[in-house]
Amino acid sequence: MESNLMVRIKERQYGPLSKPDLRTLVRKGKFTLNDYVWMDDEEDWIKAENLKQIEKLFNTENTNGADKKVIAIASGKGGVGKTVLSASLGIGLAAMGREVILVDADFGGANLHTCMGIIEPQYTFLDYYTMNRETLEDIILDSPIENLKMISGACGTLGMANPKYFQKQRLIKELRNLPADDIIIDLGAGTTYNVIDFFLSVDEKIVVTTPEPTALQEAFDFIKLSLLRKIQRTFKNEPEILSILEIDGFSTLFQFNSPVEEMLIKAKESSVEIAERIEDVLSDFKPRLILNMVMEPDEIKEGMAIKTAAAELLSVDLQYTGYVEYDENMRKSIKEFRPFILQNPNSAAAKSIAKIITLKLLNKHKADAFFKKWQMRKTMTSQAKNYLTETGKESETICSVKCFYWDDCEFQNGGMPCRIRHLEPIFK
Ligand SMILES: Nc1ncnc2c1ncn2[C@@H]1O[C@H](COP(=O)(O)OP(=O)(O)O)[C@@H](O)[C@H]1O
Ligand SMILES: [Mg+2]
Repeated sequence: MESNLMVRIKERQYGPLSKPDLRTLVRKGKFTLNDYVWMDDEEDWIKAENLKQIEKLFNTENTNGADKKVIAIASGKGGVGKTVLSASLGIGLAAMGREVILVDADFGGANLHTCMGIIEPQYTFLDYYTMNRETLEDIILDSPIENLKMISGACGTLGMANPKYFQKQRLIKELRNLPADDIIIDLGAGTTYNVIDFFLSVDEKIVVTTPEPTALQEAFDFIKLSLLRKIQRTFKNEPEILSILEIDGFSTLFQFNSPVEEMLIKAKESSVEIAERIEDVLSDFKPRLILNMVMEPDEIKEGMAIKTAAAELLSVDLQYTGYVEYDENMRKSIKEFRPFILQNPNSAAAKSIAKIITLKLLNKHKADAFFKKWQMRKTMTSQAKNYLTETGKESETICSVKCFYWDDCEFQNGGMPCRIRHLEPIFK
């Protein structure tokens, strides 16, 4: 849903601009509510303060408060729900009025587009790597959801299987510069340097695991190896420190088994200053954990267990960001090419995802979170129309003045079955 806008600032015209372009101008203070806009479907210049469509560009929360965020979703073990969660978080954040780009960086098994209902992506990373398309911006795909775009991965992109460190850094830099508020990167599973370097370079580092012992172990190992890689890269030009840490090679990284605390004590014996620098690296590393496919309440504790282990063994403050229930419909919605969160808003899993977004990722206080959830639900309700089935089985509720949203609903259609009611409970 690309919108092309012309703007008039002090009698000079600029454009066409996309909404993210315009937001940049707003951020820089170059475009104000007193300037004018011409939109495709309008007949005249309209003062920005009178134009509802661009209202949220001026929302201070979106401009100053919450800066651009790059979020990566990783895991030790495959099949734990990274892709489903990436898509769900992206849809939820977009519904909160944030411009989102979902990036499929699982070069081994790219399938994010499927979760988003895109069967054959027009462009993928392959076009970027073969120089068929020059920049990352050239391979951004529109999605049926407002504010949400995506970059599709390419399965088996051999050229990318082992990019050099500097190539990765360039790609990461380009990703960070994409025109969006949130850039969500769905990473491949596993502990290769490719995945870990990506993971370490982002603002919000999310590790996904299921409550199964093998997945928990692999999630923990992933966090451990990420931490050691971070230390190794921070001090890569300081062999003196690396030798104190005895982590100067890949093979020793894997063998590293004693608590980080011991390493710190040892470092302190050599130099208090070095120990402090290591401590800074540790406290700067704040990965998040999401526990997915929870079947029984008892399993929720596994998140706390791994948090404790990270604190005791790695001296890392792992943030337990929430859990998502197991839901049979996840598989079903992928088969039907429909995003789960839009298709099953009544589910406990969808509500848990909404909670993670509002309370944790957007850091809302409880009352504010309630309002935000309401706002998110309202937007998602209208987005869902792109995915509604024609079977009419969505809802039996009849649209009437008794409805809480009467007069406030785009789909108001008194006496007829409600088209959106099935989304109602999601953000309660
Ligand atoms: N909360 C959940 N409940 C039930 N099934 C889930 C859940 N999360 C993911 N799945 C299913 O698990 C499978 C793997 O999910 P996916 O997101 O592709 O994992 P990954 O990207 O980590 O490999 C998919 O079939 C998906 O539908
Ligand atoms: Mg995946």
